[in-house]
Amino acid sequence: MSASRGPAEDYLNQYKAGLKAPVGSVTTGTGAPIGIRDTSLTVGERGPILLQDVNYLDEMAHFDRERIPERVVHAKGAGAFGYFEVTSPEIKKYSAAKLFESVGKKTPIAIRFSTVGGESGSADTARDPRGFAIKFYTDDGIWDCVGNNTPIFFIRDPILFPSFIHTQKRNPATHLKDADMFWDFISLRPETTHQVMFLFSDRGTPDGYRHMNGYGSHTFKLINDNGEPVYCKFHFKTDQKIKNLDVAKADELAGSDPDYSIRDLYNAIARGNFPSWTAYIQIMTFEQAEKFEFNPFDLTKVWPQSEYPLIKYGKLVLDRNPNNYFAEVEQIAFAPSNLVPGIEPSPDKMLQGRLFAYSDTHRHRLGANHLQLPVNCPYRVQTKNYQRDGPQNFTDNQGGAPNYFPNSFGGPTEDERVRRLVPPFKVSGDVDRYQTNEDNFTQPAIFYNKVLDAAARERLIDNIAGHMKNASGFIQERAVKNFAQVSTEFGAKLAEKLNIKNSANL
Ligand code: NDP
Ligand code: HEM
Repeated sequence: MSASRGPAEDYLNQYKAGLKAPVGSVTTGTGAPIGIRDTSLTVGERGPILLQDVNYLDEMAHFDRERIPERVVHAKGAGAFGYFEVTSPEIKKYSAAKLFESVGKKTPIAIRFSTVGGESGSADTARDPRGFAIKFYTDDGIWDCVGNNTPIFFIRDPILFPSFIHTQKRNPATHLKDADMFWDFISLRPETTHQVMFLFSDRGTPDGYRHMNGYGSHTFKLINDNGEPVYCKFHFKTDQKIKNLDVAKADELAGSDPDYSIRDLYNAIARGNFPSWTAYIQIMTFEQAEKFEFNPFDLTKVWPQSEYPLIKYGKLVLDRNPNNYFAEVEQIAFAPSNLVPGIEPSPDKMLQGRLFAYSDTHRHRLGANHLQLPVNCPYRVQTKNYQRDGPQNFTDNQGGAPNYFPNSFGGPTEDERVRRLVPPFKVSGDVDRYQTNEDNFTQPAIFYNKVLDAAARERLIDNIAGHMKNASGFIQERAVKNFAQVSTEFGAKLAEKLNIKNSANL
C-alpha cells in the first residue's frame, strides 16, 4: 500500500486478499447462475433487445429502485459499530436500565455521525451542528440516544422545526442556500442565540467526527430499581481531544475532500485506532427542578456543571466499520422514542415532538417493517407482540402465536418488573399555546464572557459577519441587536465587522 493510500482507499485490494476461495458464479436476483454477464440478448449483433432478456430486466428494474428517500435532515453521515461499557456503579443508583446493571457490563452499539443541513453528497466540513446518534442493543431491547455535538438546540418548541429547517436548506425558487432566510428566522427567534453562537464558534467545524463531544441534549427521566425518578442529561466526551478545523482548512477540504469525515473515521477504525468517548450524566432531582432558575426542560439551555456536576459512568468504543454502507448506515433508523425500562422522556416539548417524528419518517423512508432490518432489530431479545403483516415482512411473522391481546392461548404477557419501573407522574395546567418570555441571553453571555477567550470571540464575530454579510440590511440590524443583548461589546464589534465586510464586499 503506498503511503497516500489508507485502508479506505485500498479497500478493494484488501477485500480480494481476504477471500479464502473463489466465490463462484454470478446469479440473477433469484439465484439462477448466469452464463454471459456483459451483453444483453439481441437480434443480431446490432440489436434490438428482446423482452425475453429477463436477466437485463432483472438488472435494470432493481437498479431503477436503488435509492430510498434520503433523511429529511442529517442526510450525510458515517457509521460504525462497537460497545458501551459501564465503568462506575453510580449510574445504577439512578436507572434500572439493564445496560447499566453492573460495572464491566458491555452492550453492543452502533453510532451514526452526520452533518445536518446538506444533502447526502454535501461536504463533511460545512459549518453545521453534527449529529451524534447512538443505538444501544440492550438486553431489554433498543435504546437510541439521538443527540448532537452541542448540549443545546436552536428552538424550544417542535412546531417551529419544519420552518427552522427550511431556512437552513434551499430557497424554493432559486434552489440556493439563502442568507436572508437563514438570518431572518434566526433574528426573529432570539432563543436561537445560544446555539447560533456554538455554530459560529470554533466547534462549528470539528476536525472529523472523532474529535467532538456528543450530548443527549434533552432532559430525560431515569427510574431506578425502587421506582424512584430523577431528571438527567447525557454527555459523551471525546477521548481523542477536541480538535477543530480553521475556516480556511474547512473550506479547502469542502472542495478537495468532501468526504473528509467519513474517510477519517473509516481509516482510524481500519487501522485499529479505535475512537472512544467517556460517558457522563448530570442529575437533577424533582425538588431541584422546581427551584431551578430556568425551565429545566428548555432545550436552549444547559444545566450549569458547577451546580449539576458531571458524573462519570461509562465509555463508548467504536471498533468495527460497516461491512456494507447501505445496509448498515443508510438503513439504520434512530428514534428518540426507542427507550428501555429505566429511561423515560421528560416533559421537554422538543423531546415530546421528536418522539413522534422519527418513527413516522422511518415508516416513510424505510417502510412499516423497518424494525426487522438486521441493523435496526433488537437482536439481543426476541420481539414478541401483537403486530403482524405489512409490506416486506421477512420474519416468520410470529408464526401461529395469538395475534390479539388479551388472550387465553399463551400469547406474551405483561412484565411485572417493568410495571414497577413506570411510576405514575403528575401533570397539571391550563391547556393553551403558551408564548412565554423566556430568558434568551444569560447563558449565551456566560458562553461569550467566560468560556470563549478573546481570540475565540474574535473568530466567532468574524465567522458570523462572514455569513451574515449576505443578508439584507434590515435583517443584519435586527440580528446585531440580539447579539448586543448577549454583550454590548459583541453587538458593537459585530456591527463594526459587518460594516467593513459590507463596504469592502469581502
Ligand atoms: P463550565 O464553565 O463548567 O464548563 C464549560 C463547558 O464549556 C465545558 O463543558 C466545555 O466542554 C465547554 N466548552 C469549552 N469551550 C467551548 C467552546 N468553544 N464551545 C462550546 N463549548 C465549549 O460550564 P457551565 O456548565 O457553567 O456552563 C457555562 C457555559 O458553557 C454555558 O452557558 C454553555 O454556553 C457552555 N457549555 C455548557 C455545557 C453544560 O452542559 N453545562 C456544555 C458545553 C458548553 P469541554 O470540557 O468538553 O471542553
Ligand atoms: C434526524 C426530526 C431535533 C438529532 C432527524 C430526522 C428527522 C428529525 C425527521 C430524520 C430521521 C431519519 O430519517 O432517520 C427532528 C425534529 C426535531 C429534531 C422534528 C425537533 C422538534 C433534533 C435534536 C437533535 C436531533 C434536538 C439532537 C439533540 C438528530 C440526529 C439525526 C436526526 C442525530 C440523524 C439520525 C441518524 O443518524 O440517522 N431529525 N429532529 N434532532 N436528528 Fe432530529
